[in-house]
Order: sequence, then C-alpha cells, then structure tokens
Amino acid sequence: MTANNFTLACAGQREPIASDVFSLVNACEKIGLVRTRCRQGRCGACQVKFVSGEYSEWAPMLALTEKERGHNAILPCVLVPLSDIEVEAWYP
Ligand code: FES
Repeated sequence: MTANNFTLACAGQREPIASDVFSLVNACEKIGLVRTRCRQGRCGACQVKFVSGEYSEWAPMLALTEKERGHNAILPCVLVPLSDIEVEAWYP
C-alpha cells in the first residue's frame, strides 16, 4: 500500500498524489487538467507545463519535441512524483 505523501498543485487546485506510477496523471485527470490516451509517453495527450517539484521517469517522454522540452513541458503519465508537484495547463 502506498500512502499519499505529496500534493499536486495547479491553478489554485490541490490533489493528493503518491510516489507511484500513474498517481500524478490520475490527479491531473481528476482536476480536469488533461485527458489521457496511451499512458506510455507516446501520444502527448497528457502534456502539461512543469512549474516545480521532483520526479523520476519510469518511461521516456517520447512525444515531446525538443522545443516543448525547452518550455518545460512534461508528460505526467510516465512520471513518478518524488515531492510535491506544481504544474500549469499547456497552451501550445
Ligand atoms: S497519455 Fe499519452 S503521453 Fe501521456
């Protein structure tokens, strides 16, 4: 069993998250920030802008371009939170 140790923050909303696979993307979906498709870092549907926090990647963020990476885009479906995380909506 994994405890919800951390918090996702986005635009004044907060959602508990845990240091396990899919916790972050599930929280992003729950607050209405993204919809998901592949959940493997391949489609880009869950793309958001990273603001702060720490995470590890359980799979590569293949859908991101170098330009998107340069603007702090992340794919939460392949990230495991290691701290509180803050993100913003992604507007291409
Ligand atoms: S749901 Fe496809 S990249 Fe996240």
